[in-house]
Amino acid sequence: MTATRQILVTSALPYANGPIHIGHLVEYIQTDIWVRFQKLRGHECHYVCADDAHGTPIMLRAEQEGITPEQLIARIAAAHQRDFADFNVAFDNYYSTHSPENRAIAETIYTRLRDGGYIAKRAIRQAFDPVKQMFLPDRFIRGTCPKCKSADQYGDSCEVCGATYAPTDLIDAVSALSGVTPELKESEHLFFRLGAFEDVLRQWLKNNDLQSGIVNKLNEWFEAGLQDWDISRDAPYFGFEIPDHPGKYFYVWLDAPIGYFASFRNYCARSGVDFEHFVGPDSSTELYHFIGKDIMYFHTLFWPAMLKGAGFRLPSNVFVHGFLTVDGLKMSKSRGTFITARTYLDHLNPEYLRYYFAAKLGSAIEDIDLNLEDFELRVNADLVGKIVNIASRCAGFITKRFDGRLADTLDDADLVAELQAAADGLAGCYEAREYSRAMRDIMALADRANQYIDRRAPWVIAKDSARDAELQAVCSMGIFLFRILLIYLKPVLPATAARAEAFLGGGALCWADVNTLPLGASINKFEPLMQRVDREKINLMVEASKEQQPAQAVAPAPASTPAKSEAPAKVEAASDSQTISIDDFAKVDLRIARVVEAKAVEGADKLVQLTLDIGTEQRNVFAGIKAAYAPEALVGRHVVMVANLAPRKMRFGVSEGMVLAAGPGGSDLFLLGVDSGAEAGQRVK
Ligand code: MSP
Ligand code: ZN
Repeated sequence: MTATRQILVTSALPYANGPIHIGHLVEYIQTDIWVRFQKLRGHECHYVCADDAHGTPIMLRAEQEGITPEQLIARIAAAHQRDFADFNVAFDNYYSTHSPENRAIAETIYTRLRDGGYIAKRAIRQAFDPVKQMFLPDRFIRGTCPKCKSADQYGDSCEVCGATYAPTDLIDAVSALSGVTPELKESEHLFFRLGAFEDVLRQWLKNNDLQSGIVNKLNEWFEAGLQDWDISRDAPYFGFEIPDHPGKYFYVWLDAPIGYFASFRNYCARSGVDFEHFVGPDSSTELYHFIGKDIMYFHTLFWPAMLKGAGFRLPSNVFVHGFLTVDGLKMSKSRGTFITARTYLDHLNPEYLRYYFAAKLGSAIEDIDLNLEDFELRVNADLVGKIVNIASRCAGFITKRFDGRLADTLDDADLVAELQAAADGLAGCYEAREYSRAMRDIMALADRANQYIDRRAPWVIAKDSARDAELQAVCSMGIFLFRILLIYLKPVLPATAARAEAFLGGGALCWADVNTLPLGASINKFEPLMQRVDREKINLMVEASKEQQPAQAVAPAPASTPAKSEAPAKVEAASDSQTISIDDFAKVDLRIARVVEAKAVEGADKLVQLTLDIGTEQRNVFAGIKAAYAPEALVGRHVVMVANLAPRKMRFGVSEGMVLAAGPGGSDLFLLGVDSGAEAGQRVK
């Protein structure tokens, strides 16, 4: 075995303004498996995380709830930690970015960057809400796109035509908080001079074996030129005040990654681990950050540059994973696939999901899909049908006929050796985060074990009392093989492994125990280790995840998925909905339309171009529904459309109407449809 490594591992810090969901869990489960594997191999590995507690959305949400930000983040932190614990994600420390340690390290890093000449200061003009008396993050400004003239777009980009622009370019901009027109106000900001670190970053890229997806992105970013990064925000802001700039606060993304170190320092103080040894500039230890692909920029540019500029070590690597889809689509509240950790736990065993994710995860930055039918089949076939089955077919005979004692000989030493020989290859897979490969190989070994049991058929041997020794030897073989497979799966299935260890009676197993066979040892009575996945429970979980949404029109300007961190909470509508008279409503010509053709619109991520048949004619309609519907799935379906909407010229053509859908937007949309008996052109009553 290699020498003991010293490793510090992190997962991204979840925002303290919402629950953990199964998308997040891809990351925490991926990391937890890796950490458990390292510990099982005998390495010194510390796994820390925290809640990301600062920023405008958290401040505003607390305000809406009528509580302090501190109360909000305390409540969410408790919920997050319960969820993680119940999924057996075993952090060595779980902390908060709103902590004294984080304030101290953030101040140290900022001061060193400033003294090193890496902080620039200049005034910028920004949108200011005169009612709320605060500067508005881009995402809290809405208005008409300067390019395509679509109404109700975010301050930084248009969801319809994809244009990006400055909030000052928006036409008729309003504050999403108060609905008033923002003023332009000047204010001084602090900038981190990222460009000064290009050589450092290029060197870091060269010296470390980063994923090819990161290398490509970094090269793109170098090409485009590294821009100064605005690290300050004006009051009111929930965060840390900047020491030499009263009334200015560190931007949440400055102190968020520092939260990794703060959590670790808090842990060191408690456990006696040497903080400096791990984070110092010449550290011989390893540091790995597991993150999702959406936050690469922060972790592969700003964070290493900040660390270098402030005299800390750089990460050994950043491990990036893709996003989770459910049944091939983005998680969606209307489809019931936006499943929170808690709703999952209310219905299903966490180890199913841990195994399923492991069976899907590789080392590349690829999205992974949770297919609910495949989930059921896979877990039942592999875990229940292959792994648990080995023990349950053999244990009973050992208990009943041999008083729990295993044989002290090997019935098939070659087969045992074959399973043991897989250890190095499997360890390599875990180390390289090629879990799906590891799971495949382990299940192939389980097949070998089951074939052995089928061939030797202990239930036949058991009928002949003269063959007792043989029965004991064959059933013991089954237990020996099961024990090896269990060690291989232990990083993925910690709770099942713990129950199996209790049954095997030999204490906690480590990776090296693959080679220590419990010949002649006693085992305890076998208890079922895992139930089959029940389809009905999956259905109940999906039902429980469904949220009813009011109907809304979705063309041509779609509601959009709020971007993280700076997005306004949904409850804050820009204006109250107006009432209209029944006569006004009667003017709306709602018709049933048949989708004749549906295709993606090049250059517009969210749009589908529909050709709609309304009986008397065909209409061309652009609808912002692509996140929820694949165009090809729409052909032949009946939808409800507003047929007398004035035609509207868009960048991609003229839109001649609007289709209706319900849901908050983005992937959470349900087109209002009609039964197949309906006929195109019929009026909707
Ligand atoms: N607070 C920041 C991270 C700061 S790290 C210094 C953040 N928080 S988050 O709650 O939005 O996301 C936490 C992690 O979960 C991120 O790595 C993110 O990529 C990951 N995921 C969130 N949704 C996900 C999916 N649907 N699928 C896979 N991972 C996802 O970003
Ligand atoms: Zn536009």
